[in-house]
Amino acid sequence: MAENLMDKIVSLSKRRGFIFQSSEVYGGLSNTWDYGPFGVELKNNLKTAWWKANVYQRDDILGMDAAILMHPDVWRASGHVDNFFDLKSDCKTCKKRFKTADLKNADKCPECGGELTESRPFNLMFKTYQGPVEDAGNIVYLRPETAQGMFVNFINILDARHPKLPFGLAQIGKAFRNEITPGNFTFRTREFEQMEIEYFVRPQEGDKKLEEWIETHFNWYVNLGIKKENLRKRPHGKEELAHYAKACTDIEYNFPFGWSELEGIANRTDFDLKQHARQSGKDFQYFDDAAKQRFYPYIIEPSGGVDRSVLAFLVDAYHEEKVPPRTNFEKNEAILPIGAGVKNDTRVVLKLHRDLAPTKVAVLPLLRNRPEIVELAQKIARELKKNMVAVYDDTGSIGKLYRRQDEVGTLYCVTVDVQSMEDKQVTVRERDSMQQERISVDKLKEYLLQKLNN
Ligand code: GAP
Repeated sequence: MAENLMDKIVSLSKRRGFIFQSSEVYGGLSNTWDYGPFGVELKNNLKTAWWKANVYQRDDILGMDAAILMHPDVWRASGHVDNFFDLKSDCKTCKKRFKTADLKNADKCPECGGELTESRPFNLMFKTYQGPVEDAGNIVYLRPETAQGMFVNFINILDARHPKLPFGLAQIGKAFRNEITPGNFTFRTREFEQMEIEYFVRPQEGDKKLEEWIETHFNWYVNLGIKKENLRKRPHGKEELAHYAKACTDIEYNFPFGWSELEGIANRTDFDLKQHARQSGKDFQYFDDAAKQRFYPYIIEPSGGVDRSVLAFLVDAYHEEKVPPRTNFEKNEAILPIGAGVKNDTRVVLKLHRDLAPTKVAVLPLLRNRPEIVELAQKIARELKKNMVAVYDDTGSIGKLYRRQDEVGTLYCVTVDVQSMEDKQVTVRERDSMQQERISVDKLKEYLLQKLNN
């Protein structure tokens, strides 16, 4: 059942234009994905919601956008050159590569039974060369986390903005890891996007702030529509903590393939600031004016994945519903019957939160061979587009159009029919309840704005 759900999400993503296999026409590049027209809107809406909650609606967090390429000393200082690796074994026959941990002490290849190589460390950072000369002196890394871009700018931020503790930096951007076993659609990939906060606190406040951030971010997912019972908090055992962390709790989502990490919230202590101070010779301490003291703040880090969140929101929003059988909606009825456009009495609907829904309103002509209906519907859509994400669509029968809009989570469908020509009213259908109302064309924008913003 759960696996089936994952197949349905992958299929809907492709069918409706959320997520495509990268370079598909060339057979695809494994575990890389492209976001299509609805996918990019959903992803942008998610990032906007995160930025709003974490930057605009707080007064202790500042935004940043650091470069992906950084000085290689950053990764020496951070410990990624020495510590950021997985153990792997290769099959000598089929050449497949496995994470040693996944082999669970097996001594033969799980795919073909061939002999395995010794387990060896494999650094997960992507390497490339800066400039035209490919020698060791020009090696740079694609960042494996956005965090370091914020740590190395700590002094710049203090000088430019003089923030007082506790304060944070927030950043959304791409990160790259040469994962040995990517998979589960967009869950684990080699190129992905992170949403990270580095929150600087007095060391003695670290434990309390860690708890606060776990609570705040757990609630962020719930407030954006994820069902509470599909989320849980999982504190890390000592043995699984990253080399920089004193404590960490994952917020996990109940994906169709099992409970898995959506976001990690860690107490990184003063590890990173001290390491950069050592490597660069610069002073990374904070000066407390009141106490006349210099010290290294601790860092609490909520670190989430954009792609994983998009996947969780898609899974959580996916619904198949039994609805009353369709009746004669093809006739020119002003109010369409509930369930119009649904075959086999079942409709697929993405019940995405209104802030995340890629399209807010679709304007549809009931009869596409009636120029006056088409003209009015197009005019309404043009007008609505000035204030909201609205589309006009006449590429199918009204039943098909409803079905498509439900599948991509469009909040409202506005239908223009023959009667609209006379009474200057249109039918507005709400996605989840499928309730319909006749609204006068000149009040429509106001009506929808009120629904979308309240
Ligand atoms: N700066 C801390 C850090 O990077 P992490 O737990 O390794 O911590 C944070 O990563 C988040 O980034 C994860 O919770 C996940 O959402 C996302 N992430 C990490 N590796 C990923 C991958 N290979 N594919 C997709 N998302 C990934």
